[in-house]
Amino acid sequence: MKDFIAGLPKCELHLHIEGTLEPELKFELAARNGLKLPYSSVEEMRAAYTFDSLSSFLTIYYEGMKVLRTEPDFYDLAMAYLRRAAEQNVRYAEIFFDPQAHTSRGVPFDVVIRGLRRALMDAHAQLGVRAQLIMCFLRDFQAEYAMATLLESLPYKEWIAGVGLDSDERGNPPRKFAAVYERARQEGYLLTMHCDVDQDDAIEHIRQAIEEIGVDRIDHGVNILEDQRLVEAVLARGMGLTCCPISNGYVTESMKAEGIRKLMDLGVRVTVSSDDPAYFDGYVLENLVALQDTLQLSPEELAQLQRNAFEITWLPRHLKDAYL
Ligand code: HPA
Ligand code: ZN
Repeated sequence: MKDFIAGLPKCELHLHIEGTLEPELKFELAARNGLKLPYSSVEEMRAAYTFDSLSSFLTIYYEGMKVLRTEPDFYDLAMAYLRRAAEQNVRYAEIFFDPQAHTSRGVPFDVVIRGLRRALMDAHAQLGVRAQLIMCFLRDFQAEYAMATLLESLPYKEWIAGVGLDSDERGNPPRKFAAVYERARQEGYLLTMHCDVDQDDAIEHIRQAIEEIGVDRIDHGVNILEDQRLVEAVLARGMGLTCCPISNGYVTESMKAEGIRKLMDLGVRVTVSSDDPAYFDGYVLENLVALQDTLQLSPEELAQLQRNAFEITWLPRHLKDAYL
């Protein structure tokens, strides 16, 4: 079955590019930029990756990305990911990036996006992997900073498929970003946002995301199962949920595999993705294998997960159809 999963043409829709920064590349970039890391080896760094919640993960995630400084750094980061993606037969990826995690420490927006964009172009030409960027706002920063970032992105609009919302959700509901999302929609961006699995306010946040913001899809979102009305709303709109089993297992006590199976059985367009693979030790292949180990999915069900993903991509219809 592992060979079957490895051979499936895959689609990755929930991947933070900064979360693909492997320890080896972190050391290389630190050396390139004359920075000293508080670890003496790759093994020591990996051993420090101990998280049991979103916030404990985010602390290490933001600390780790400080080695990213220049356009070639962002290029190398994205190219390394896309090479791995190609090895796992990922044919198409929608990739989150967190510009404010860089502009807030003095790295210009255009340095970030130019490096990422150049890698996407080269990967398509050299590896045959297609990819698009989704710009995420950090929800624990003020909405005004998100709006300023949105405005800063406008000259690069053709390079960005849509916007997302990530980072620490507690106390930072979708509604906080209503004006930012409204403007993003007016500018032609498609809309998604994280509704994380470990939230006390999950139901209310998902309700706001769907009814008040009008998102096109939801990242994570398994918690819709706690409220029948949310399940109906997601089904009625044909919305997709980008679920990340191994990530779920880190930030909660479970991969939420049974929830993912339930969503599949209900006909929700649920997909499987990797979130932050360098930290959670699993790219999309390992996520599918982990889910398969737990749920004993049939080949048809595994293929359906990929069809769901290609169907909810932000590609024009004719390109979607070419993958389906
Ligand atoms: N949740 C919220 N914010 C994030 C994540 C996540 O899983 N990964 C990177 N930023
Ligand atoms: Zn995520």
